Amino acid sequence: MNIAVIGTGYVGLVTGVCLAEIGHQVTCIDIDENKIEALKNGKSPIYENGLEELLEKNIAKETVRFTTDYEEGLEAKEAVYIGVGTPQAEDGSADLTFINAACDSIAKHLKNDAIVVTKSTVPIGTNEHIKNRITENLTQNISIEIVSNPEFLRQGSAVFDTFNGDRIVIGSDNEEALKAIEDVNKPFNIPIVKTDLRSAEMIKYAANAFLATKISFINEIANLCDRMGANVENVAEGIGMDKRIGNSFLNAGIGYGGSCFPKDTNALVSIGRNVDYEMPILQSVVEVNEQQKKVIIDKMLQRFGDLSGKTVALLGLSFKPNTDDMREAPSIPLSKDLVERGVNIQAYDPVAMENAKKVLPKDVAYMDSIDEAVKSADFAVILTDWKEIKEYPMEKYKQNLNQPVLFDGRNCFALNKVKEAGLEYYSIGRP
Ligand SMILES: NC(=O)c1ccc[n+]([C@@H]2O[C@H](COP(=O)([O-])OP(=O)(O)OC[C@H]3O[C@@H](n4cnc5c(N)ncnc54)[C@H](O)[C@@H]3O)[C@@H](O)[C@H]2O)c1
Repeated sequence: MNIAVIGTGYVGLVTGVCLAEIGHQVTCIDIDENKIEALKNGKSPIYENGLEELLEKNIAKETVRFTTDYEEGLEAKEAVYIGVGTPQAEDGSADLTFINAACDSIAKHLKNDAIVVTKSTVPIGTNEHIKNRITENLTQNISIEIVSNPEFLRQGSAVFDTFNGDRIVIGSDNEEALKAIEDVNKPFNIPIVKTDLRSAEMIKYAANAFLATKISFINEIANLCDRMGANVENVAEGIGMDKRIGNSFLNAGIGYGGSCFPKDTNALVSIGRNVDYEMPILQSVVEVNEQQKKVIIDKMLQRFGDLSGKTVALLGLSFKPNTDDMREAPSIPLSKDLVERGVNIQAYDPVAMENAKKVLPKDVAYMDSIDEAVKSADFAVILTDWKEIKEYPMEKYKQNLNQPVLFDGRNCFALNKVKEAGLEYYSIGRP
């Protein structure tokens, strides 16, 4: 099929390149000229495992193209995917500014009938709004249909997930459009859930809300384990073996971050409020997550009392490993808090440092390696469980730190190993 993808971020770019890889002709459109220039040269503006290889391959095969020009990008396209951002507005709801702008550009430049496919995460009812907004502003005598196709990829393994997802969800109130988008996706060979528009939109929010709930739940149990002398890792294993519970998303830590869970949980609470339905479970999930980001600071304060004048090695800055994304990363509030307390920060992240420089306090010093970050620091704190950080030899903390004190916000190490290495070690929910 001839497809346009609007937005070349984590979702749009991966979608565009993977659709090209399974045999479609794809043009990706973005308003960011720098991104499009880089992409034309086969350079991915984001860090995603395996993405650049697929990009180069499909550029060479001429199955994927990039442009900032809507007229060129939408020419003769049978499906137009929308993958622009839906960030959180000040009141917690989803901000549809980018969606509306994309709709208006589609309406202005589309010259033939097409199916508009929404990949962006949008509040329930938005796909109807998208259809109306485009239809009302069309400049040609044509018509569009709308399909909701929410995205479930995980940043850091986005390409893998696109080819190996658990399910693809497509929703529409138009059978023909539904069938056409089902056919587009068939080569992925992933089970397809077909439903109506509103249920497809709700599936995306419900899935993220449920996963966020699992994380806040295990973090709450971890905090109780801390107070009761139990080990949350063993507790998670013990409950996770129950198939009704499942063992994923039961890793205690310093809370979830990223571009999806925080904004999507808040958006769902806001969606509920708009129809006079409070969502007490979800509100607590959000609150527990906010508190959880502070747990590691409390542990530092308990250990040292006053932190001012101390130097800390901050290891891992991105919101999770294998991504350069800093959106809602726990490293942001944590480093601000530490700087306010007069702590000097020596930070290191394998790929996110350039993005971190844009959002962390300017006093943070960025180091070229874990070795450098740890050298002469008073203690170290792990915020992201990058492989490189998990594999850093423990004896080096002892050699390089002024005192061998390690706070681990991601429970990276077995307790017996840190004990053997002679480290003073504080993790989440483990004695
Ligand atoms: N990142 C994820 O892991 C993930 C997973 C599932 C769903 N989602 C959802 O997918 C959507 C996109 O997320 P993302 O992380 O890819 O966002 P992103 O910020 O990385 O990318 C959005 C892109 O859209 C471009 N853009 C904005 N307005 C435009 C316009 N009018 N025309 C053309 N391009 C425009 C921006 O320049 C940017 O490149 C969001 O709704 C998000 O909730 C994200």
